[in-house]
Amino acid sequence: MKIGIIGMGHVGATLAYTLCLQGLADELVLIDTNEMKVQAEYLELSDTVQNLNHHVKLIKNDYAALENAAIVVFCAGDIRVLETATDRLAELRVTSKIVEDISPKLKASGFSGIVISITNPCDVIALYLANMTGFDKAKIIGSGTLIDTNRLKHRAERDDVLVIGEHGESQVALNVSSEVEKLATGTGWEIYAAKHHTAFGISSSVARIIRVLKTDTRELLPVSSYDESENCFYATLTEFNLKDGVIRRILPPLNNSETNRLAQSIQTIKRNYLEI
Ligand SMILES: NC(=O)c1ccc[n+]([C@@H]2O[C@H](COP(=O)([O-])OP(=O)(O)OC[C@H]3O[C@@H](n4cnc5c(N)ncnc54)[C@H](O)[C@@H]3O)[C@@H](O)[C@H]2O)c1
Repeated sequence: MKIGIIGMGHVGATLAYTLCLQGLADELVLIDTNEMKVQAEYLELSDTVQNLNHHVKLIKNDYAALENAAIVVFCAGDIRVLETATDRLAELRVTSKIVEDISPKLKASGFSGIVISITNPCDVIALYLANMTGFDKAKIIGSGTLIDTNRLKHRAERDDVLVIGEHGESQVALNVSSEVEKLATGTGWEIYAAKHHTAFGISSSVARIIRVLKTDTRELLPVSSYDESENCFYATLTEFNLKDGVIRRILPPLNNSETNRLAQSIQTIKRNYLEI
């Protein structure tokens, strides 16, 4: 499977490494405006694949090579923005401009596969990417709250938990106390405070999304997908495949408070979109 990654920073590089090790990609197209960084990652990954028992062809900075890619992951950004701000929305001014830069190039490549969008604010950027490229919204998947659900699982030490709504401060955790929810929501910031980025959790989450696409197992995952009635991307349990993208979105049963919180979360995403 040929997979493109736009943005070879902490997240893109870790994802590329993960995809190589897990045997999920036969060809990887690595794209970044920082020529030295993409060259460095290209060389490190070339070292890596020598140790594998499967071949991975590596290509760098060639949008034309995305034409027949099955999946493109969008994770370009500038994480240093968070050094002076403490909200994912602070990134929007920077990342929306990056979407404007890459969208015509991605379109011109003739790419027609599935886009997985990671860049924050995740749900807002997924919609902006859809609107700027004109791609079928069903074929755009935001990484959404899969990572938040994973965080909640290990913080709550339970598997029967789920996070829906925005990948951000207004996310809605189901089946847990507000203390555990707070702990889970703070996990990303706790990691960021020490490492100044996060990469393993999101990269392995996206590798899992790619595995579901590749193996066509139709596992329901809490990713961000387009809700036509809201004209908005937000996370709920979603079924997707490589051919059609999002096939089904399922909202779990919610009590009144959860219903209200989800409505507020959707309003937050919509309000943030208007900031572009
Ligand atoms: N959704 C999630 O759960 C989640 C988790 C972690 C990080 N993120 C987000 O992912 C994004 C990337 O994070 P990171 O730590 O890798 O950032 P980073 O700053 O390390 O890397 C971003 C890379 O994007 C490149 N880039 C910038 N503009 C570009 C353009 N126009 N075309 C191609 N490449 C370009 C930069 O050169 C850089 O190498 C951020 O928005 C971050 O908030 C999201």
